[in-house]
Amino acid sequence: MNVQIREMVLDDYDAVLALWRDTPGVDIRPVTDSREGIARLLARNPGLSVVVMNGDTLVGCALASHDGRRGFLQHVVVAPVARGQGVARTMIDICVERLRENHLGWVHLDVVADNETASVFWQKAGWHPVETLTRLSRKL
Ligand SMILES: CC(C)(COP(=O)(O)OP(=O)(O)OC[C@H]1O[C@@H](n2cnc3c(N)ncnc32)[C@H](O)[C@@H]1OP(=O)(O)O)[C@@H](O)C(=O)NCCC(=O)NCCS
Repeated sequence: MNVQIREMVLDDYDAVLALWRDTPGVDIRPVTDSREGIARLLARNPGLSVVVMNGDTLVGCALASHDGRRGFLQHVVVAPVARGQGVARTMIDICVERLRENHLGWVHLDVVADNETASVFWQKAGWHPVETLTRLSRKL
């Protein structure tokens, strides 16, 4: 498959949302994953998130952002038709490089505990659970 990876723009939103909806395990959040939420993310983090195109069809996406100290990757998804060809690995490499250019020390991501595929994938790609930290969260 001859795919192209490029910066995500807001016009990609509908196709990205469709990909998330078609992918079991993607937790679509009403506020932050709405069109307005993604518009805010893209505006605050220009050039960091990417999509993968197979011709006119969107087959992958990765949201990347940072808060000035730490980078974050979210919703890294590849459509089944494009899996197993290094697409996710390439997307991540691009996002990580762009985050690195922003002088950040670390990039973090969350994996749903029972997502075995994702755990294997991330660990093969050189990511590891942080055994010394417990993540605490509070809903806003
Ligand atoms: C996880 C996911 C993004 C991987 O996408 P992909 O494009 O198929 O991954 P790649 O082809 O870049 O694979 C990279 C490495 O991970 C491995 N890998 C990918 N999927 C795997 C699987 N299901 N089981 C075991 N290894 C896997 C590949 O073998 C490859 O390793 P290698 O370089 O040693 O050969 C894709 O399966 C997906 O979208 N899953 C559903 C959404 C999801 O769970 N996203 C992660 C959220 S945290």
